[in-house]
Amino acid sequence: MNSSSLLARSSSRISTITLQLRSKFITSRSFSILSNSRFLGEARISKFPIVKRVQPTQFRRIRTISIGDTKERVHERSDYPIDKIRELFKNDTISIIGYGPQGRGQSLNAKDNKINVILGLREGGRSWKEALQDGWVPGKDLFNIEEALKKGTIVGNLLSDAAQKELWPQFVPHLTKGKTLYFSHGFSIVYKDQTHVVPPTDIDVIMIAPKGSGKTVRSHFLEGRGINSSFAVFQDISGKAEEKAIALGIAIGSGYLYETTFQREVFSDLVGERGVLMGAIQGLFLAQFEVLRARGHSPSEAFNETVEEATQSLYPLIGQNGMDWMYSNCSTTAQRGALDWYKPFRDAAKPVFEKLYSSVADGVETRLNQKVIIMTNECYYVYVL
Ligand SMILES: NC(=O)c1ccc[n+]([C@@H]2O[C@H](COP(=O)([O-])OP(=O)(O)OC[C@H]3O[C@@H](n4cnc5c(N)ncnc54)[C@H](OP(=O)(O)O)[C@@H]3O)[C@@H](O)[C@H]2O)c1
Repeated sequence: MNSSSLLARSSSRISTITLQLRSKFITSRSFSILSNSRFLGEARISKFPIVKRVQPTQFRRIRTISIGDTKERVHERSDYPIDKIRELFKNDTISIIGYGPQGRGQSLNAKDNKINVILGLREGGRSWKEALQDGWVPGKDLFNIEEALKKGTIVGNLLSDAAQKELWPQFVPHLTKGKTLYFSHGFSIVYKDQTHVVPPTDIDVIMIAPKGSGKTVRSHFLEGRGINSSFAVFQDISGKAEEKAIALGIAIGSGYLYETTFQREVFSDLVGERGVLMGAIQGLFLAQFEVLRARGHSPSEAFNETVEEATQSLYPLIGQNGMDWMYSNCSTTAQRGALDWYKPFRDAAKPVFEKLYSSVADGVETRLNQKVIIMTNECYYVYVL
């Protein structure tokens, strides 16, 4: 039986819909197995109404994409010429406080885009030394945190989430009327009961949250691609907060931006990293590894069938081509088995995800996190197989 006939036969019992995003910056990939209607098949994918143009405003063109029954507004770098972005920020100094993976990637991208960007770092720290190595010049575009906060008209708070809480009292006097404060994570604002980060009410507060490591923010930019980011407006005093968020998002290296709120960003982000991005995948790896070992398989065999093949072969292919491609490019035995077993795995995992989401939404997760972060400032959990 060839692959398409197996998928066709199976379609009557799989609840699926094609999720496909097209843009210059996103490879077209389809993940039919992700949601709730019948499998549409490749022939239908091309008819799926992906992008509907909406009337452009002055230099912004908003696109609406349809995924299933849901329409979303998205923004692409190709619709925001960099010279217009420079014009928008021509009177601004963008002060990026922090030079971890995000601060480094975002500030270097903005600098390469010829936006007026400076750094605010603690003198002599690891970040300060790295910034010097990257060509930032003390007194020109590298300052201590206090000085950079004073100079910035747009302040990026890209400190570690723990330091955002600790240093917040230092920020407040410099966040004067007319300034803009931006974050790359909703954490400090949403969990204000725990962080005490409450911005003055006369400034714009926005977020650009790259969906990837800061290292990818930089490497994608250098490759001429952009990272996908979400953006949100928490306070719009100027009436231009959204425009600033989108333009700044492009300036720091985004290729594609979708709307969110601070709360939705932080909830989905915390669920994601505890879930499929790290915690759930580690749990699944372990469960499979332990069963294979207990059933007499050698460590090499258990490791290769669990971690090596997944991370070195299948997952990169899924990333490049999509899940549907993966189904049509593996053996029929693998297809049959995966189609039979994805549902029991989903059913077993779903209650865990529900519990996880509630823990995030109730603030239990972040209360736990804060304790660990404050004790050690960094927390690594390493499990050696
Ligand atoms: N990493 C990601 O993948 C990612 C993705 C999207 C969004 N974000 C968000 O982006 C923001 C920045 O994250 P990140 O991962 O780039 O940075 P990070 O590694 O969490 O933070 C590092 C920066 O914080 C500074 N810092 C820490 N404690 C400090 C203190 N007590 N005083 C002064 N500076 C201090 C460090 O300076 P020193 O070197 O001097 O210690 C360094 O510049 C966070 O809100 C994060 O949630 C991160």
